[in-house]
Amino acid sequence: MQVKTFDEYQQVYRKSVEEPEAFWAEIAENFKWRKKWDKVLEWNFTEPKVEWFKGAKLNITENCLDRHLENNADTPAIIWEPNDPSENHRILTYKQLHDKVCQFANVLKNNGAKKGDRICIYMPMVPELAIAVLACARLGAVHSVVFGGFSAQSIADRIKDAECNIVITADGAERGNKNVPLKSVIDDALVQCPSIKRVIVLTRSHTPVSMIKGRDVWWEDEVKKVETQGNPDCPAEEMDTEDMLFILYTSGSTGKPKGVVHTCGGYMVYAGYTFANAFQYQPGEVYFCTADIGWITGHSYIAYGPLTQGATVVMFEGIPTYPDAGRFWDIVDKFKVNIFYTAPTAIRSLMSFGDDILKGKDLSSLTKLGSVGEPLNEEAWHWFNDKIGKGKCPIVDTWWQTETGGFMISPIANVTPLKPGYASLPLPGVQTVLVDENGKEIEGNGVSGNLCIKFPWPGILRTTYGDHERCRQTYFATYENMYFTGDGVLRDEDGYYRITGRVDDVLNVSGHRIGTAEVENALNMHSSVVESAVVGYPHDIKGQGVYAFVVSPDKHGNEDITRKDIIMTVSRIIGPIAKPDKIQFVSGLPKTRSGKIMRRILRKIAEGDTSNLGDTSTLLDPGVVEEIKAGAL
Ligand code: WTA
Repeated sequence: MQVKTFDEYQQVYRKSVEEPEAFWAEIAENFKWRKKWDKVLEWNFTEPKVEWFKGAKLNITENCLDRHLENNADTPAIIWEPNDPSENHRILTYKQLHDKVCQFANVLKNNGAKKGDRICIYMPMVPELAIAVLACARLGAVHSVVFGGFSAQSIADRIKDAECNIVITADGAERGNKNVPLKSVIDDALVQCPSIKRVIVLTRSHTPVSMIKGRDVWWEDEVKKVETQGNPDCPAEEMDTEDMLFILYTSGSTGKPKGVVHTCGGYMVYAGYTFANAFQYQPGEVYFCTADIGWITGHSYIAYGPLTQGATVVMFEGIPTYPDAGRFWDIVDKFKVNIFYTAPTAIRSLMSFGDDILKGKDLSSLTKLGSVGEPLNEEAWHWFNDKIGKGKCPIVDTWWQTETGGFMISPIANVTPLKPGYASLPLPGVQTVLVDENGKEIEGNGVSGNLCIKFPWPGILRTTYGDHERCRQTYFATYENMYFTGDGVLRDEDGYYRITGRVDDVLNVSGHRIGTAEVENALNMHSSVVESAVVGYPHDIKGQGVYAFVVSPDKHGNEDITRKDIIMTVSRIIGPIAKPDKIQFVSGLPKTRSGKIMRRILRKIAEGDTSNLGDTSTLLDPGVVEEIKAGAL
């Protein structure tokens, strides 16, 4: 599946465009199917309908686990590093992971889970999270993992939208020197969720939790029951290639997050192929991805992608700055990591601690580096290249999205010539196009436009859960016969792509997608907020920060406390990840006569660039702009 030279990449790319079905059928041969497909692809982008490997049957966990047992049973699948460096690390071989997944799949069965059920997972970054995810897939239950930084309200919304019947969680999560009371957050969420019949709770932080009779059970007790039943195996459920594998909620330009749906066959092929190819993974290499499984990066490049390839994956429970800002490098040193995949925000944050934190860390095992989540600016690129890669490791800057399932535009390690700040070229099978505002294709090089994809690839989302029309509207209606990414892009003279950022009302804060409308809804729920507008501004570490303009005439005499109350409200409604970095109180927002907020003006003010605010004469009250400018933070 791996291309080995740049010439070969160009040839393979050409073939993948000229004969996409033949190309993907050949790639798919590298996976284990119970039954092969009758037809490689059926699609149209108008409904939209996309079906890959039609008629094929499989179970993704047989690809991630069973098929490695014959030759690689004792190869480490997961090397887990705890938050607290004095606690022991854990290694699970493919055999051990297989057994634990089967065991927990039986636990799920005992607790009433079956194919097609939706199961919400809200867990710390421990091996049991990967086990829970794979156990769902083993049974054909659809997992919906919710990142630990989301609030009870966000969890409740997601559980209700997907009508989940089981939650898998833990007593608490340890992150740095904080303890996140996961079970308690779940308890708050479940007040609103009568569909949940069972909560399975893993012991991790030993925090006291409430356990409700008939609903809540301990992970460890349930595992013991399975052990005494004496049947450790759990045959994998046979899945149709287009059966749902998982739902993952992500933010868009409206207030309500949408459940992106991925299915079994195409997603598996895409995650596995892109992992093997872009990182040029070789047997025996140790690969460390710093993402959380709560995001798509963790789904595709901690769990499914690497495991389909029999890779050894390092999974880390903690944060990059605990106990100090050298933690990642200690882990690289400790496990002799070869491939290190992280986010620009982490690189920038660690850069800011200076080079002393690198002293005495042996990084000589590293051979390949990767980045994801937001543009990797040149300064960070060079630091990563010089200080971490010592100038000898290619940096694979992977552009992709929750909706794409896997890498789309990315260098292939040691194959694609690199350019700092560029995600470089589309991978085989990815037909990128640039379009202008009117949907007209912009051809040639040295151009900028909105990034679209004009042909399906196996990892493309199939729908948004429970609302197919929303999927059509969001991704397939802006431009006819194309998938619209929401990103702006520059294609330079060499045809290299540089992602310039979102062109919709979505912010990218530390690599996390946050919808401005979502934050505004949360702000407006605060009792003394009349109205608000949220925009992004450049932030040295996070990439973008959240800047909120808030109309709040009654501040109970204390502006500072009101500001904190408002932040607390956002934290309650969405979660700590969406907290505004800046809140500016204003007497009104700049609006057109038809009542539309002129975000362009607010964006400029937030960016600190007030020299040219453009035409403000169409505003209802141009005076408000002067006031906002004067009070800018
Ligand atoms: C941004 C994360 C520049 C982009 C995998 C995209 C990037 C959004 C890159 C998706 C990159 C992701 N360079 N920008 N290498 N990777 N993005 O769904 O704006 O959390 O649309 O998926 O992140 O975020 P998501």
